[in-house]
Amino acid sequence: MYQLIDGKKIAGQIKEQIAGEVKKIKQQGGKIPHLAVILVGKDGASETYVAHKEKACHQVGIHFTLIRFEDNVSQNELLNKINEINNNENIDGMIVQLPLPKQIDEQKVIESIDPEKDVDGFHPVNVGRMVIGIPAYISATPAGIMELIKHYNIDTQGKSCVVIGRSNIVGKPMSILMMQKKALGNATVTVCHSRTKNIKELTLKADIIIAALGQAQFLTADMVKEGAVVIDVGTTRVKSDKTKSGWKLLGDVKFDEVAPKCSYITPVPGGVGPMTIVSLLKNTLLAAQKKIYN
Ligand code: GUN
Repeated sequence: MYQLIDGKKIAGQIKEQIAGEVKKIKQQGGKIPHLAVILVGKDGASETYVAHKEKACHQVGIHFTLIRFEDNVSQNELLNKINEINNNENIDGMIVQLPLPKQIDEQKVIESIDPEKDVDGFHPVNVGRMVIGIPAYISATPAGIMELIKHYNIDTQGKSCVVIGRSNIVGKPMSILMMQKKALGNATVTVCHSRTKNIKELTLKADIIIAALGQAQFLTADMVKEGAVVIDVGTTRVKSDKTKSGWKLLGDVKFDEVAPKCSYITPVPGGVGPMTIVSLLKNTLLAAQKKIYN
């Protein structure tokens, strides 16, 4: 029988801890942590993610400011706003919700954020610090996955780990964290991507599979060995007439057939997703406490 990794439950527990920390700051007369989110345009998925982030901030007492731009905003306007937030001592952390419209150079935007306020951990300074294993803001999804691995005491030492997907936000940082010479690392990591020729051969040997390619229901039972740990990062939105919103989320894993072969597996929704938001809250708290850069 497999163990379900309950991200929703763990996220709830961590949220309570964060709320406690924020309360302590308040009681001691300190400055309440403050997150600013820049949202450009009206992309449906981005609207949903940002709404979740806002709600989570309110739940733990973190101040939240949303700055909206039309999707025809110029790059200069956006960079000016980021510069303004960089210099605003009242704001501890900032994120620019991705993706951005095509007239805007995403990398330039990321690099304009002060690394000390980059609670998404996307700035090259934070990525570089993470790679060499010194304190850094670590991007929210990989940080959330590591938290789940810690909570469920999943042994990663010397295990073979296959990461499917090589995005800057998930696949790449995940592969680094799993190989890091640390208690929650020391795995032998293989990264698979769209040009990999023998994915099934590789996943069949894996003790831990992290599916982060963004292709709904990609990982099937015949690709997974008995007793594997499977982490599903997929969040493909598909139309559904069974939900109030009119859509539902599909993971990168065919859960029903893969789960019976697993020792541990994350569901979608309720697995990695809730942990991502909690990691952002945690990073914002760290930013307010100046715990990464001091
Ligand atoms: N778009 C999808 N995921 C993320 C994220 O974690 N942060 C930001 N800023 N944009 C995203």
